[in-house]
Amino acid sequence: MSSLLAVDNLEIGYRDTDGVDVTLLRGISLSVARGEIIALVGESGCGKSVTAKAILGVLPDNLKAHRGTIRYEDRNLLELDEAAYQAMRGRAFTLVPQHPLSSLNPVFTVGEQFFDLIAFQGRTHVGIIDYWRPRLSASRRRAIRTRTIDALREVSLPSPEELVDRYPLQLSGGQSQRVLIAMALVGDPQIVIADEPGTALDVTIEAQINDLLLERVQARQTSMIYITHDLGIASQLADRVYVMYAGRVVEEGPTATVFATPRHPYTAGLLRAVPKVTDEPFEGIPGTLPDPKAIGQGCAFRWRCPFAINACAESVPPLSDVGDGRRAACVRATELELVA
Ligand SMILES: Nc1ncnc2c1ncn2[C@@H]1O[C@H](COP(=O)(O)OP(=O)(O)OP(=O)(O)O)[C@@H](O)[C@H]1O
Ligand SMILES: [Mg+2]
Repeated sequence: MSSLLAVDNLEIGYRDTDGVDVTLLRGISLSVARGEIIALVGESGCGKSVTAKAILGVLPDNLKAHRGTIRYEDRNLLELDEAAYQAMRGRAFTLVPQHPLSSLNPVFTVGEQFFDLIAFQGRTHVGIIDYWRPRLSASRRRAIRTRTIDALREVSLPSPEELVDRYPLQLSGGQSQRVLIAMALVGDPQIVIADEPGTALDVTIEAQINDLLLERVQARQTSMIYITHDLGIASQLADRVYVMYAGRVVEEGPTATVFATPRHPYTAGLLRAVPKVTDEPFEGIPGTLPDPKAIGQGCAFRWRCPFAINACAESVPPLSDVGDGRRAACVRATELELVA
């Protein structure tokens, strides 16, 4: 399958207040084909959201891409200027954010927020003159309102005719996330990037949100990059999974294969750490992610890895083919018998 989006060897970092260069993403490569769903999984702080922000072109000012490419169709997004990027957001790729309650503007109604999206999406520049009433006829305004109500109905929100005039603070968390999904889909994007869209919600609402996202993207043949630390959700949704650790992909491949027979000790550790509803003792991965400044040479997982050997401190293991369409970045990947 040819890829719609391909990130290749992406390095992102910043200069700290002492003038030291710190690398956060240390050579990320991933790809997503048309209609494909991939999951990015890994512990908090491993670089999932920084990867998403890099693709969307919304990195915080202090973070810079030092190396690599992000190819969408035939363009390297890292070379686009802001106006060209702005014209692609919402159409080429779009975001369903991590925190629904803080992602809607509290001073505008749902309808007003959709209005800007529908009226101006794809434009490189919007000025005050664009809001001048005579430029937007009453019939155009009515058409936008109808399209908004249809978009809200598509994400199964009750009474969309009434909801369109509500302010975000009058919505529940689950309703806010549905509104954000509707906003993300209204421009008919090619790729939806969903950054932990359910983590702020309770489990039943989270499951409904995931079902809805899956149904909507499958119905439109849209690709999706689904970011989560929940391996159960990743295994239900994604065709392929990328397991990230400390700013690198340490294992990737078809989700079912990777989760059934992991090849990287970190993936195996994550799988064992999934809480079970039995009286089995809870098994986490000891230790925490290393400080990006302290990784140095070698595998970043070596301090927490029960299988580490001297070679692990010598160089960063490349992501190598380990069979069954999978790749893993571990010098012992093909030799270890890992228990998930
Ligand atoms: N603007 C920034 N300046 C410096 N460091 C940053 C900046 N943004 C993120 N980081 C660091 O980059 C690393 C990755 O952060 P990121 O937000 O991508 O994690 P994540 O995998 O999305 O975690 P979570 O699951 O908690 O959302 C963290 O160490 C974080 O502290
Ligand atoms: Mg995040």
